[in-house]
Amino acid sequence: MPAFSDRLKRFKTRVESALDTRLLPAATSPSHLHAAMRYVTLDGGKRVRASLVYAAGQAVGAPDSALDVPACAVELIHAYSLVHDDLPCMDNDDLRRGKPTCHRAYDQATALLAGDALQSYAFEILANDPMLTVSAAQRLRMIALLAQAAGSHGMAGGQAIDLASGGRTLTLAQLEDMHLRKTGALIRVSVLLGAFTREGVEEAKLEAFEKYSRAIGLAFQITDDILDVEGNAATLGKKPGGDRERGKPTYPLLMGLSEAKARAKTLHAQALESLAPLGDNGGLLAELAGFIIERHQ
Ligand code: IPE
Ligand code: IPE
Ligand code: MG
Ligand code: MG
Ligand code: MG
Repeated sequence: MPAFSDRLKRFKTRVESALDTRLLPAATSPSHLHAAMRYVTLDGGKRVRASLVYAAGQAVGAPDSALDVPACAVELIHAYSLVHDDLPCMDNDDLRRGKPTCHRAYDQATALLAGDALQSYAFEILANDPMLTVSAAQRLRMIALLAQAAGSHGMAGGQAIDLASGGRTLTLAQLEDMHLRKTGALIRVSVLLGAFTREGVEEAKLEAFEKYSRAIGLAFQITDDILDVEGNAATLGKKPGGDRERGKPTYPLLMGLSEAKARAKTLHAQALESLAPLGDNGGLLAELAGFIIERHQ
């Protein structure tokens, strides 16, 4: 069995090439839009969400060729969310994945439209891509799950709470709710879409995926908040310190850095525990949970 870091690298390479072949060439008219879509999607990012799709899918015996489709779909939604998150009307950031943000490299209108088009494209491939070899009913289930995760109860809702919370103090319960939506929802659905790429997975396993993904989804944003305090731009590929500048409610702000780290560790332990019903097949997901809280980027 190859080492975890090699498996992660393979997932990254795999989704990169799956995205590259699916995104239209940059010269396709309107070319600035297609070029921007490629600019923000390709050649960057840790690909944690795609890796979760592959790892969960492999845990239930789904083929990688079918998993490429949900892996691309979640990375497209994620890329769109980052483009909009960086806009001046949201976090107003200039650096993303070590490059100028989309509205800096292009312009705000192009960034808005590139995000819109990436979001639609995620659903288009889930609906149509022939490499996804599940029944029509299962496809529909997968589309509905992704729509819920991206929408007003999930990522977009979480972002709305985030923007309304600048300079305000949230309770721990409110902060947890915001994190579960803005980041947790897409992490959760990445795991579930991987599992749903194989039909008829037992209820006990689905429950394990559910619990695991909730824990790592929350841990992911807590770690992102910690890195905004402790990280550096060269490693992160984005400018740290923005949360403090904008008075964003974060775990380190609410409970202090060491408590925030302890909370991430507790969630890590919960994630590992919840994988028990998967037996040895949960090994890769367990390693991914460790990566999510120990990462420096
Ligand atoms: C950053 O996500 C935005 C959050 C939801 C916290 P990632 O840290 O996964 O960003 P990339 O994809 O690696 O650039
Ligand atoms: C972003 O949270 C969550 C998204 C839905 C994109 P952040 O605003 O903390 O993400 P970064 O730190 O800019 O990557
Ligand atoms: Mg933000
Ligand atoms: Mg941001
Ligand atoms: Mg952040």
